[in-house]
Amino acid sequence: MSDYAGRNVLITGAASGIGRLLAGRIAAEGARLILWDVDAEALQRARVELATTAATVTAYACDLRDRAAIAATAAATLRDVGPIDILVNNAGIVSGRTLLEARDDDILRTFDVNTLALFWTTRAFLPAMLERGTGHVVTIASAAGLVGTSRLVDYCASKHAAVGFDESLRLELRRLGSNVKTTVVCPFYISTGMFAGVKTRFRLLLPILTPDYAADRIIRAVRRDRRRLVMPRLVYATWLARLLPVPAFDGLMEFLGVNRSMDEFVGRATADEAVRTRNVAGTRGGR
Ligand SMILES: NC(=O)c1ccc[n+]([C@@H]2O[C@H](COP(=O)([O-])OP(=O)(O)OC[C@H]3O[C@@H](n4cnc5c(N)ncnc54)[C@H](OP(=O)(O)O)[C@@H]3O)[C@@H](O)[C@H]2O)c1
Repeated sequence: MSDYAGRNVLITGAASGIGRLLAGRIAAEGARLILWDVDAEALQRARVELATTAATVTAYACDLRDRAAIAATAAATLRDVGPIDILVNNAGIVSGRTLLEARDDDILRTFDVNTLALFWTTRAFLPAMLERGTGHVVTIASAAGLVGTSRLVDYCASKHAAVGFDESLRLELRRLGSNVKTTVVCPFYISTGMFAGVKTRFRLLLPILTPDYAADRIIRAVRRDRRRLVMPRLVYATWLARLLPVPAFDGLMEFLGVNRSMDEFVGRATADEAVRTRNVAGTRGGR
């Protein structure tokens, strides 16, 4: 998949964060963009903004928790725009609660969006890719799909499953002798707001990535048909660290600050609420 121009590129979770940035970059290259998101208003805003570029943009509100809605939206997408060339499974959520603090629905939601939706969207669009002998399935997983962390039991488990999904799909496609490509993306924290409040202990070794940097790297990796993108580089050392005895591995994660990174997490909902409260207080103060 050397070029985005003229391709049908579907991005889930396209109304904000990394999905929105990917959409902007891919639109600039003249692709036909198909945007899915649960937030219909934000999606329309994104569609209108992106329509000023060279791209054709179609948007569908779809809750990825709802398997029937995914099937219906996929059918509408295939009918309206035809087969998908590049499917970017990007939507994701995090609760940031410990295993015992998490509500049952937090856990279900996390797996519905971060894991099960990968199955439903890919099963909807892969058949046409196989038939045409071309296509690319991109899974935005996480470094949390390679290493566990406290306060992320549900999230890490769902992202480990996403990494397993990509690897198994890749090997299945290999057995089929198919030319359909896959890319899995495993970033450390990115400052999109999804993980507002997280901390890193060694900023040079394990920086919190900027959204623009992450989006640029993803765009390049897909263009070059890279099978796996892990960032920053230190995260690659996970595979080496796994050779250590488990207590030493755990001690290393503690030393690197990874296991405490979520201690001050507030997340997007709380961060947005704090900004609203500050703005309201600011408005009141100004009167
Ligand atoms: N940010 C990080 O530190 C980080 C690190 C590693 C990996 N990742 C992964 O990167 C991907 C993008 O994350 P991001 O930071 O860009 O997060 P984000 O800004 O919160 O964007 C995620 C998007 O997915 C949408 N979404 C959530 N639930 C959905 C549902 N049920 N159906 C359809 N869309 C839904 C969100 O809509 P709403 O805004 O309406 O909820 C949002 O537009 C995720 O898979 C995330 O797990 C993020």
